[in-house]
Amino acid sequence: MGQQTIAIRKLTPGIGAEISGVDLARPLGNQAFQEIHDALMENLVIFFRDQELTHDQHKAFGRRFGELHIHPSSLAVLADHPEVLIIKADERSKYVAGEEWHSDVSCDPEPPMGSILYLKEVPPDGGGDTLFANMYRAFETLSAPIQRLCEGLTAVHDGAQVYGGRFGQTPKEGGFPKNEHPVVRTHPVTGRKALYVNRNFTTRIAGLRKPESDALLEMLYRHSETPEFQCRFAWRPNSIAFWDNRAAMHHAMWDYFPHKRLGYRVTVKGDKPFHRT
Ligand code: SIN
Repeated sequence: MGQQTIAIRKLTPGIGAEISGVDLARPLGNQAFQEIHDALMENLVIFFRDQELTHDQHKAFGRRFGELHIHPSSLAVLADHPEVLIIKADERSKYVAGEEWHSDVSCDPEPPMGSILYLKEVPPDGGGDTLFANMYRAFETLSAPIQRLCEGLTAVHDGAQVYGGRFGQTPKEGGFPKNEHPVVRTHPVTGRKALYVNRNFTTRIAGLRKPESDALLEMLYRHSETPEFQCRFAWRPNSIAFWDNRAAMHHAMWDYFPHKRLGYRVTVKGDKPFHRT
């Protein structure tokens, strides 16, 4: 169907599209909102170039899609904007956010539906791309017996593995989030099934012995990280990526140390993952 307000250029047939013809600093009219929402549902991650946004405008764009999410443990938030995560790496960094394949905060009881990352500074000699993987494709390309097996399973997603482990953060209250979600989730808008496990947060498949769980998870991780399911975004200053965490995973390349990369992420709340046969 033709768009009336925006133009769409796909990065690959399966995932990723660049949107032009819209200034996200201005309030989004209903037609533009609907077209951007449809483009996100179809392409799983959408990109915008040359956007000049204040933090309030960034949040206002996010709020068009739902309530904003507050991170359960990160201290890298703006003092006056607790909904805005600072995504920064430089010569002092020991780790960067998102350097392992993941769906954002999948350890939450109701993980975020989407994340909107706005980069202001990119490394001077290149690097710092973000990779996105189509988790519908990951599910659909499993053999029928493995699909059936996975559709009956749930898995534990534990924030302690990442936030407490690699990042060395302390939980705000009551420990890091730890929740069980279906291994295959039904997307609440498209109705399609997506594989929903990731190396960052998923620790165990419920009901399996540990060696069985480890082997099955490793197979699913390797499969979902297949390059043919992916697109790769090369950032410029003032670019935005908006991804659907229910249908895509992502991986931030940290191949630019000791150079600096800086941006801000607004995250939109989601609902409890479910599986419908
Ligand atoms: C993230 O996981 O939100 C970070 C992605 C990136 O920095 O490219």
